[in-house]
Amino acid sequence: MSTVTELGAHVDKVQAFIIAIMIFWFVACNAVLIYFMLRYRRRSKHDKVSTIKGNHTLEIVWTVIPTLLCFVMFYYGVVVWKDMRTPPEDAMDINVRGYKWGWEFSYPELDGRIEGNVFYVPVNTPVRLVMKSSDVLHSFFIPEFRTKEDVIPSMYTYLWFEAKETGTYNVFCTEYCGRNHSAMLAKLHVLSEEEWEAYTSGDPNEGLSPTELGQKLYVSRACSGCHSSDGSALIGPSFKGLYGREGQGQDGTSYKADENYIAESIKYPNKLVVTGFQGGQMPAYEGQLSDKEIEALIAYIKTLQ
Ligand code: CUA
Repeated sequence: MSTVTELGAHVDKVQAFIIAIMIFWFVACNAVLIYFMLRYRRRSKHDKVSTIKGNHTLEIVWTVIPTLLCFVMFYYGVVVWKDMRTPPEDAMDINVRGYKWGWEFSYPELDGRIEGNVFYVPVNTPVRLVMKSSDVLHSFFIPEFRTKEDVIPSMYTYLWFEAKETGTYNVFCTEYCGRNHSAMLAKLHVLSEEEWEAYTSGDPNEGLSPTELGQKLYVSRACSGCHSSDGSALIGPSFKGLYGREGQGQDGTSYKADENYIAESIKYPNKLVVTGFQGGQMPAYEGQLSDKEIEALIAYIKTLQ
């Protein structure tokens, strides 16, 4: 797999260098081994084994050479690693939030624009990702850029890259984080200058129908982490068949899932906790989502019958 960042090319070189050394010594050692086996094999019953007491010169040679080689590999690795851990001062920041099981991207430089499981960067621009997890350990990996960093709940971690080619690249979670770990994927789109201009100047939600906007928010605002769209039970009730459902909260009040109920549940999720689920799991979205966005989510939920 080819790489499209300068840093990625350096990582490949370090790896090729180490593998070349390993292949050289593997072949050399085995060649000598086979030669000795043939050259000094027992030729008759009367062959005597010579007694060797040790050889200081040999001991020093086969200790010093591998040690020096280790230092060379270590030094080369550290030099590249240092570049990897030192983002350029002018890098563009993007915030990344990992959750079970998805990625949320927000752009502080674009009025806090939010994307879910997909993000966009300009080509030939250093980008720094400032990352945090809202639940368990995850790890953010862009294989084609040869860069990876753990995403953890207790502190911010970061990684940076500068893509030299436009295109679409895969992002994986590489820290086992539960049932849907393998589905915790995202796409990175590296845009040309003109495409980036269009992306940043336009309203990314323009032209979306309420249902489409709702579906987008369902992913980008991480509803999908706790509310499935296929009827399976996660931390919260599934959205499938939610609209129109009747039931009871834990305090005995009955509800019918109409527009008011759904809007209330988004804004104040702990007011009515559905039987069978635990309260206090979801943050209140009061003030976080506009009325238009809540209506879009309701429109999307209505389609999940
Ligand atoms: Cu997140 Cu694995």
